Amino acid sequence: MVEKNKTIKGMTKPALSVFTGHTQQIPPIWLMRQAGRYLPEYRALRAKAGDFLELCYNSEFAAEVTLQPVKRFSLDAAILFSDILVVPHALGQELEFVEGEGPKLRPVRDVEDLKRLSTELNHNNLSAVYETVTKVYEQLEETVTLIGFAGAPWTVATYMVEGGASRNFEYVKQWAFSSPETFDILIQRLVEGTTEHLCRQIEAGAEVVQLFESWAGILPPSDFDRWCIKPVRAIVETLRRRFPGVPVIGYPRGAGVMYTGYARATLVDVLGLDHTLPLQWISETLQRDVVVQGNLDPQLLVVGGTPMINAVKSIKKTLGGRPFVFNLGHGVLPGTPLEHVSELVDLVREE
Ligand code: CP3
Repeated sequence: MVEKNKTIKGMTKPALSVFTGHTQQIPPIWLMRQAGRYLPEYRALRAKAGDFLELCYNSEFAAEVTLQPVKRFSLDAAILFSDILVVPHALGQELEFVEGEGPKLRPVRDVEDLKRLSTELNHNNLSAVYETVTKVYEQLEETVTLIGFAGAPWTVATYMVEGGASRNFEYVKQWAFSSPETFDILIQRLVEGTTEHLCRQIEAGAEVVQLFESWAGILPPSDFDRWCIKPVRAIVETLRRRFPGVPVIGYPRGAGVMYTGYARATLVDVLGLDHTLPLQWISETLQRDVVVQGNLDPQLLVVGGTPMINAVKSIKKTLGGRPFVFNLGHGVLPGTPLEHVSELVDLVREE
């Protein structure tokens, strides 16, 4: 386990301070998918690595990619460079990233298919991910917070069952709705694998972890509790027991009014907000109980100028009085101009 020192030479980490419940006059800022194709230095290293998965499993390269946006924009947090699909990959599911198309997996659609997967995470590739965490932690400036992450079980299951990105999520819903007991076997395996994956990242140096539930918004309310809330709560309970004091961020994108129940029932410390949530509602309901992070529409970062300036001002004005970390409502888009990101950081830090 890496020795952690939160206040080296008397310096504090603003992002970590907010994640643990303190208000900062100037909100800390980091961006989901802050490392990626919009950065020329990312594209260069990606070309050198060849395949996207090669990049994820090369700790030297992955550490460098993790630090690229932090250095360029002096952000308050680094997020491990990896992917949510390394967990199914480590459970034995075949995975590749096809240029221009995204991830392709050999689909797992019933109990028979589950027999192809192992019950334990294989560490052949994952050990490189934990080495990346340690390398980044050792190189990090003393004010920057290191965030680890994983996909939440439901979201990872959608990719595993559909075999990649999907429009209607027909196979995963078919399975979950028609045979919840067998679908639960997959979810429980993901709960276990994800918990272990996050514990290892914390041991390697991650100071905070985020659970990406990118597809929280596609379930009917009657199923939200079983497939989004319960699995995340199980993960949070173990993390809390093993690493009390390490904040957990839950990001249930598109959950709408279900954000309230999610915050209460999952016991996450921080809520990642998507950009569809009204600011006033966030401030009056969610922010009473929990630290929040968000929620600029990533397309406004592409557009820049007055529309971005106005949106940033109202987010800061409405959410800034309580513990709040500035972020986007979803990941940085590939076409994002670099100058807009620098402007955003300046705007957020303006008094
Ligand atoms: O935030 C960061 O900077 C850390 C890195 C990170 C990546 N993926 C790198 C990546 C994180 C946190 C993720 C999470 C992730 N991966 C999610 C959840 C967040 C979200 O966006 O909803 C999901 C659903 C995935 C699965 C995934 N990975 C898809 C669907 C794709 C293809 C679409 C795309 O954006 O290219 C990826 C590929 C991927 N993951 C890239 C990066 C930088 C692009 C790969 C490349 O071509 O270089």
